[in-house]
Amino acid sequence: MSVKIFNTAEVQDLLKAAANLKANGSNERLKTIVHRLLGDLFLAIDDLDMTPDEVWAGVNYVNQLGKDGEAALLAAGLGLEKFLDMRMDAEDKQVGNDGGTPRTIEGPLYVAGAEVRDHTSKIDLDEDDAARPLRIHGIVKDLNGSPLAGAIVECWHANSNGFYSHFDPTGAQSNFNLRGAVKTGADGTYEFHTLMPVGYGCPPHGATQTLLTKLKRHGNRPAHVHVFASAEGKRKLTTQFNIEGDPLIWDDFAYATREELIPPVTEKSGGAALGLKADSYKDIQFDLTLTPLVSGKDNQVVHRLRATVE
Ligand code: DHB
Ligand code: FE
Repeated sequence: MSVKIFNTAEVQDLLKAAANLKANGSNERLKTIVHRLLGDLFLAIDDLDMTPDEVWAGVNYVNQLGKDGEAALLAAGLGLEKFLDMRMDAEDKQVGNDGGTPRTIEGPLYVAGAEVRDHTSKIDLDEDDAARPLRIHGIVKDLNGSPLAGAIVECWHANSNGFYSHFDPTGAQSNFNLRGAVKTGADGTYEFHTLMPVGYGCPPHGATQTLLTKLKRHGNRPAHVHVFASAEGKRKLTTQFNIEGDPLIWDDFAYATREELIPPVTEKSGGAALGLKADSYKDIQFDLTLTPLVSGKDNQVVHRLRATVE
């Protein structure tokens, strides 16, 4: 079968009816988006001669994706989240608001509500024998290099099994294990005492991994630490850094790696005095440069569904 019916009046009328384009007083933006996305899908079916079986396989897949609660995982794995970052990067460049620490994807595994501590937080609440101690620290500054006092830095990362608290399939971690928030003092510095993470892998039997496997792709990320940083009068930064040396750094299934987000890992001693679980520890300095508001607004703050804990 090789028919092309997209440009017929009947199909165009069907699209307009499905999006209810004619109705007044309904959500114009939503109608425009539904009309466009549905039209792009119809056109793709026509162009590629998709069979009904292929279309129903896709519909069934969407159902399974929802049952598995993995739509946001798939968004990262198919590069949709990266694409949104690329668009924000281009917009920043256009208005000349670049030069800060590069953004990279948030991912779906943040949990809101970590207690905000002054300057330093020890966030490894649960024992993890396989993980070595890690000190993460840095300075939050503006584009001139001036330290930002009262900035909030949040971080979250996986344990030595690559699992995040709240999303851990073994149920083994307590609330807010390996998740923390601190407020900088006058010198703009922050610090987290934690354990070395291991790279994350998609749930092996979930809908995301199922599709990736069919595409002959893996669903793994290099070891990384997520960061949010915000300060009065500055835009909220969403970023991550990778753990230098991880073999997947340039093969991240979620495309989050950036050259500027691979800080050196140094071997240090004196961990006992810092309250770390061993005297020898890994140290990562990750400075954060925040950018100014655009016309008085934070145009990079993103609203999305995020997990919370009572
Ligand atoms: C996914 C997992 C992560 O840990 C992350 O940082 C980004 C994406 C995911 O499963 O899609
Ligand atoms: Fe992650």
